Amino acid sequence: MNAVIYCSCTGHSKAVAEILAARLEYALVDYTAATEDYSTAVIVFPVHCQSYPTFLKNFFKSRKAKRVALIATYGRADAGNAIFEAAKLVGGAVVAAAYIPVGHCYLSDGYAPTELPQKLIEKISDPAPVKIPKRGKTPFAGFLPSLRSRFLVRIKRSEKCVGCNICGNVCPVGAIEKGKPNAKCVRCLKCVVSCPEGALDFKKARVLTRYLEKANFNETIIYLK
Ligand SMILES: Cc1cc2nc3c(=O)[nH]c(=O)nc-3n(C[C@H](O)[C@H](O)[C@H](O)COP(=O)(O)O)c2cc1C
Repeated sequence: MNAVIYCSCTGHSKAVAEILAARLEYALVDYTAATEDYSTAVIVFPVHCQSYPTFLKNFFKSRKAKRVALIATYGRADAGNAIFEAAKLVGGAVVAAAYIPVGHCYLSDGYAPTELPQKLIEKISDPAPVKIPKRGKTPFAGFLPSLRSRFLVRIKRSEKCVGCNICGNVCPVGAIEKGKPNAKCVRCLKCVVSCPEGALDFKKARVLTRYLEKANFNETIIYLK
């Protein structure tokens, strides 16, 4: 079986995965439900701190698809080396890869593609492996990512919280204790967007707001060879 497997905290990667699944006519699977060894696994995930989300490490390591395509969505700041790092972990040949610019989840600017390049769709069906070169990095890439986001983004809980613990159930790193994120929190915002009461919100440091407002790297980077 062929599948598009997605990890998505705030919906951008899921939207891209849905386009891919429809175009390729592959099954669409959330990564937490991806149990079998697929023939072709198209994995769609967000860039976090210029790499893949730390909590996906074991997921990537346990992939046993024959062919893998790696599609990273990024918030138009810096895609870093997310695909290069993920490609080192997955089993199977990487046959296509791409960085897709979308909205930054810390800006809620709604920037989302409605279509993807035809050459990317075609390459996913072609079994020839591709080379993923290492890209240049910003000086801060990889520098204590969880500590950086902890200082730059604060999750706040209001009195609207009814204690349903949906936030705790969706958290990919098990960081919610009594409706509040603890030190394991990676600021992915899955809890914020999943709260049915709107009781969770986030506040970012001014330095991060300024950085994100200036950042405007819109390139779709596709690896075909
Ligand atoms: C903790 C964290 C770190 C991020 N780091 C980057 C980054 O380094 N560069 C970038 O362009 N976008 C970055 N983003 C933005 C996401 O890559 C982007 O919004 C992505 O599409 C979110 O995907 P999702 O909605 O599927 O979770 C980051 C987002 C989060 C939550």
